[in-house]
Amino acid sequence: MLWRYAHGNVLEVGVGTGKNFPYYPPNVTVTGIDLADQMLPGRVPEPKQLRMPVELWEGDARLLDFPDNSFDTAGGHVCLLSVPDPVRGLAN
Ligand SMILES: C[S@@+](CC[C@H](N)C(=O)[O-])C[C@H]1O[C@@H](n2cnc3c(N)ncnc32)[C@H](O)[C@@H]1O
Repeated sequence: MLWRYAHGNVLEVGVGTGKNFPYYPPNVTVTGIDLADQMLPGRVPEPKQLRMPVELWEGDARLLDFPDNSFDTAGGHVCLLSVPDPVRGLAN
């Protein structure tokens, strides 16, 4: 339950169609990454429908290149089971 502990700048890996967005506290900023086909227009809520700022990026959990210390909270929900190399995904 990433959202329960989320604070500050949040990285959600494997954000999918954004089903977790309603559970975040309103004072966070969420950066969601997922493989491209999960975030087709119309599948993810529009930013204006959300209580907090959200940025979505196409990306692979194993190849993230955000600068160090970009996020206060990082995690995913039922995501690692579908990442082929979960240890590499966590290390990034
Ligand atoms: C079971 S879905 C869960 C989606 C969302 N977290 C939720 O709770 O509804 C797993 C998600 O992980 C994403 N995923 C799988 N491998 C990934 C990878 N290597 N990098 C980023 N996302 C990945 C999938 O595209 C999918 O959207």
